Amino acid sequence: MKIAIIGAGTMGTGIAQVALMAGNEVYVYDSRSEALAQSHSKISADFLKLKEKGKIDIDQSVMLLDKLHYIEKLEECATVDLVIEAVIENLELKKELFTQLESIVSADCILASNTSSLSITSIAGTVKYPERVIGIHFFNPAPIMKLVEIIPAIQTKPDITNKVAEIIKSFGKVTVLAKDTPGFIVNRIARPYYSESIRILEEGIADIQTIDWALTELGGFKMGPFTLMDFIGNDVNYSVTESVWTACYYEPRYKPSFTQKRLVEAGYLGKKTGRGYYNYQENEAPKEVKKDTVIGNEIVSRVVSMLINEAADALYYGIASKEDIDLAMTIGVNYPKGLLSWGAEWGAESCINNMKALYNKYQEERYRCSMGLQNINSIGS
Ligand SMILES: NC(=O)c1ccc[n+]([C@@H]2O[C@H](COP(=O)([O-])OP(=O)(O)OC[C@H]3O[C@@H](n4cnc5c(N)ncnc54)[C@H](O)[C@@H]3O)[C@@H](O)[C@H]2O)c1
Repeated sequence: MKIAIIGAGTMGTGIAQVALMAGNEVYVYDSRSEALAQSHSKISADFLKLKEKGKIDIDQSVMLLDKLHYIEKLEECATVDLVIEAVIENLELKKELFTQLESIVSADCILASNTSSLSITSIAGTVKYPERVIGIHFFNPAPIMKLVEIIPAIQTKPDITNKVAEIIKSFGKVTVLAKDTPGFIVNRIARPYYSESIRILEEGIADIQTIDWALTELGGFKMGPFTLMDFIGNDVNYSVTESVWTACYYEPRYKPSFTQKRLVEAGYLGKKTGRGYYNYQENEAPKEVKKDTVIGNEIVSRVVSMLINEAADALYYGIASKEDIDLAMTIGVNYPKGLLSWGAEWGAESCINNMKALYNKYQEERYRCSMGLQNINSIGS
């Protein structure tokens, strides 16, 4: 296939590499020529690493790089079968680009966006033939992360959705189907992992080290929430939360926190700036964690209950199938168990009681129990 990637930043470069390694002819366009040069260096360096590891040989590397074309005019992607747009997260810009692309590509070329938070339906709404527009949401880093969310707009033809899922599977990825709603599957359901942990910190119940310890050691998560937010970048994590919250008409469950906003304002973005919740600059000894399993288990119970509630709610409102919800959270964000299976393991009664206890204590909408929890015993098993 001939595939065009528009936007040669972090995601565009990663997606280009994935498409290339699956044997496709790849055309990469960016409005900045420096971005094209950086993208080329990044892919060449990655291929060098793969050669050193013995995963590809020199001939394969040369052959693959021959199929990679950096283009300086959008018109040069006239003959491609699929376009994946990965420019900055700006709806007006994306709409403009899709309108322009439609006048360049053939009638049967599929037009996809890698947006994390914008409405695919809204992008599709600006073009003449919206039935071929779709969301293909890769995770960062695209060459490593196995999960890809496929998001049909309400105008997308079902056979386009099926075709796109097959193409992405041919890239060696696992696909899940998501309804075109804010945050799709992963970025919606994962919100409480961060926000409930911050809330526990703000209430003074435990410090960041203890919360991270509880969720990794007792909860089985690969990374504690504060380590993970620092890794993702507090700017990125905060803006995803804010965008899901506003796009969901200020749903209280997704409300962002001042604690994280202040870190962003201070430039404490996490690992990339040397400081976030943790300080990465100084070689200070890690703070001793008081391993109190009573508090630790309370933290796990509270955060995981909120996550299960969120997953049950997403299922209840048809955001994705139960299989795809559990797959997305285990493959996309490495959760130790699918949340619906986890809920079934705990049982509906205990999930509902945990939510009711939080609601009774705080009297906040944020803690209301999802209707979806009623059936968790049967849906998650
Ligand atoms: N970074 C992530 O973790 C992540 C994960 C999944 C999805 N996304 C989504 O992928 C998209 C790209 O994100 P990114 O992190 O790669 O951003 P980035 O800033 O690294 O790259 C964006 C690129 O788009 C280029 N660009 C801007 N305007 C353009 C135009 N008119 N035409 C062509 N190129 C243009 C920029 O020069 C830049 O190189 C966004 O929609 C984002 O929401 C990001």
